Amino acid sequence: MKQRQQRSTPLTLLCSMILIIGLVTSVSAEEADVFSQPVKPLTTLECAQCHEQVFVDLRDSGGAHRMVCRDCHETFHNAKRNLTWDQRVPACVDCHETPHGEEADMVKCLDCHSNAHAPVASLDIDQLEPLCARCHEQPAAEMTNPSAHADLSCNDCHQEQHGYLPKCIECHEEPHSPFINSSGCMQCHPVHNVSEMLYGGQIKNSDCAGCHDGPGAELQQGHLAHSLLNCIFCHADEHGNTPDCQTCHDTPHSQEMLKEFAGCNDCHGGPHNLLPGA
Ligand code: HEC
Ligand code: HEC
Ligand code: HEC
Ligand code: HEC
Ligand code: HEC
Ligand code: HEC
Ligand code: HEC
Ligand code: HEC
Ligand code: HEC
Ligand code: HEC
Ligand code: HEC
Ligand code: HEC
Repeated sequence: MKQRQQRSTPLTLLCSMILIIGLVTSVSAEEADVFSQPVKPLTTLECAQCHEQVFVDLRDSGGAHRMVCRDCHETFHNAKRNLTWDQRVPACVDCHETPHGEEADMVKCLDCHSNAHAPVASLDIDQLEPLCARCHEQPAAEMTNPSAHADLSCNDCHQEQHGYLPKCIECHEEPHSPFINSSGCMQCHPVHNVSEMLYGGQIKNSDCAGCHDGPGAELQQGHLAHSLLNCIFCHADEHGNTPDCQTCHDTPHSQEMLKEFAGCNDCHGGPHNLLPGA
């Protein structure tokens, strides 16, 4: 420092003097100007200059909270001493009351919504796990039935983010029927209670034929009225159900005639391949 000062020439000193005087006069001109202006509130972009992460959270994951900062933060940077945190930031209940009820584990909003500026994206599924049943009664009740899925936890399937819907093929890589989407599989397998077989809806003959290729092929090759029917039209209600011919046809022939034969199939072949002309 000393050396530099010694080297200063009168010329450089003069220059600095002029500069300083210039600065002082321009600052005071500006200040005079400033005090004649109204104070404008900070805009959201101005807040973001210092609170960039908050801004980024809101922008990328804020959802319905993508609002102007001051909509929520009416007061902030409160300089008074001894104010608690809660006195400096807004509370969720100011705007939302208690949307999930009054029970103790449902009122500590930030336990689950861990970031006020990303209230849905920041839901922590590990925190939620013990409470899934509170909001999703039906799947949780179904999962209490013993089944191959009951040993799994909700989050084994609904991974990483709240609301994630897994696909069956994530775990069942080579299912017995062609995979189009999980809801296809769920026509037969209720996912939260897989020990039960659903049976109904719009099950295609090819889905059954994946395992029962014999009846599948016979029915498809037939020329009589049965070949137009769905497997589940006859095998209704539950898997393995086999109907009697007479549940649909009552008594098409005289008792006299039928007495002579062991059953309808003696003449008609079988349900899946009715013999023509019988
Ligand atoms: C010039 C930088 C700057 C600007 C601009 C700024 N803040 Fe801050 N803010 C800070 C600093 C520094 C803190 C204290 C940080 C800490 O304690 O970690 C803070 C703290 C906060 C807090 C925490 C609560 C508190 O009172 O300490 C809130 C809320 C907040 N700011 C909101 C805002 C909002 C809303 C805006 C815009 C309207 C804004 N800030 C603009 C620098 C700024
Ligand atoms: C929907 C309402 C809402 C909006 C919009 C909002 N905040 Fe917040 N903010 C909150 C709440 C609630 C808290 C208190 C969270 C807590 O207690 O941890 C908070 C806390 C803060 C904090 C302190 C804790 C932290 O996360 O750093 C800062 C700083 C802050 N907000 C800045 C901002 C800024 C800047 C904006 C605009 C870019 C903004 N907030 C927009 C509701 C909001
Ligand atoms: C100043 C008012 C205000 C505060 C404070 C506030 N919110 Fe909100 N919040 C809103 C508004 C407005 C909406 C959009 C309309 C609605 O869903 O009610 C919203 C929506 C939400 C949503 C739905 C988000 C979405 O994208 O669908 C959640 C979750 C939420 N708030 C949680 C919280 C939590 C948790 C807190 C406290 C950390 C909080 N809010 C604080 C005003 C607020
Ligand atoms: C046990 C965890 C948990 C707690 C505690 C919790 N929430 Fe939620 N909240 C959720 C989940 C999960 C959702 C559903 C999010 C979705 O729609 O994907 C939700 C949704 C919301 C929504 C969106 C609208 C709605 O009703 O579905 C708002 C608003 C909300 N919470 C506010 C709050 C507030 C305010 C508190 C504190 C009083 C709070 N939450 C406490 C887990 C929680
Ligand atoms: C505080 C209540 C709450 C809690 C706790 C909660 N959820 Fe949710 N969940 C919701 C709400 C609200 C929705 C949105 C409802 C909708 O869109 O039909 C939702 C949506 C879902 C969805 C997507 C539904 C669909 O049809 O897209 C799944 C899956 C889900 N939650 C699983 C879980 C699991 C697993 C847990 C426990 C780790 C859990 N939830 C905890 C309230 C909650
Ligand atoms: C074996 C994996 C698996 C387990 C374990 C599981 N789920 Fe699911 N869950 C699914 C699949 C698959 C779907 C449907 C996906 C689709 O519709 O594409 C689903 C759908 C849902 C839905 C939305 C539809 C509905 O039925 O309301 C909710 C909510 C849900 N599950 C909650 C839960 C909860 C809570 C648990 C724990 C009690 C749980 N799940 C356990 C795989 C599972
Ligand atoms: C996160 C992995 C996972 C997902 C996703 C999943 N499963 Fe499973 N599933 C298992 C496990 C583990 C078992 C038990 C061991 C085994 O049989 O492989 C099982 C067993 C089964 C069984 C045999 C039941 C029994 O009683 O033997 C059926 C049927 C089944 N799953 C259907 C489905 C269907 C349909 C879906 C989609 C809607 C699905 N699974 C999604 C993991 C999963
Ligand atoms: C038409 C009804 C139907 C459809 C659709 C269906 N299944 Fe099945 N699934 C069955 C029947 C019936 C069984 C055998 C039950 C038995 O062994 O008693 C079975 C058995 C299973 C098993 C246990 C035995 C094995 O093969 O490992 C799994 C896992 C399974 N299905 C997964 C799936 C998946 C994944 C899909 C969707 C791609 C699907 N299923 C579609 C009816 C169906
Ligand atoms: C994943 C393979 C699979 C699928 C898909 C499947 N089944 Fe089965 N089915 C079986 C097994 C295994 C049995 C029991 C073993 C046996 O008796 O052949 C069976 C038994 C039956 C029986 C009873 C057989 C008897 O001798 O009593 C009928 C009827 C039947 N299935 C019809 C259907 C129909 C209709 C569909 C479509 C809705 C279907 N199955 C889908 C594997 C399957
Ligand atoms: C017109 C009604 C009808 C239709 C359509 C039908 N079935 Fe059957 N099925 C029967 C009857 C009745 C039996 C009882 C056995 C008998 O009387 O020979 C039977 C028996 C069975 C059996 C056990 C005996 C065997 O032949 O292996 C299986 C498996 C079967 N059906 C599967 C299917 C499948 C798969 C389809 C669709 C591709 C289908 N059925 C369509 C009426 C029908
Ligand atoms: C679930 C109902 C159902 C069952 C069970 C059933 N059928 Fe049929 N069957 C029909 C229908 C529907 C038709 C076509 C309309 C009609 O003729 O009534 C038909 C038609 C027929 C015809 C006439 C075929 C033609 O193209 O002219 C014969 C023969 C017949 N069934 C025999 C049988 C025999 C034998 C059995 C038992 C092995 C049987 N059906 C079981 C529903 C059934
Ligand atoms: C002795 C052989 C024989 C036996 C046993 C027999 N059928 Fe037939 N069935 C026939 C003949 C032949 C026809 C064709 C008659 C015609 O075209 O008018 C026929 C026609 C039918 C038709 C079509 C009639 C119509 O009105 O279109 C049905 C349905 C039928 N049989 C059902 C049955 C059922 C169900 C049984 C068992 C209870 C049975 N049959 C037993 C020989 C038999």
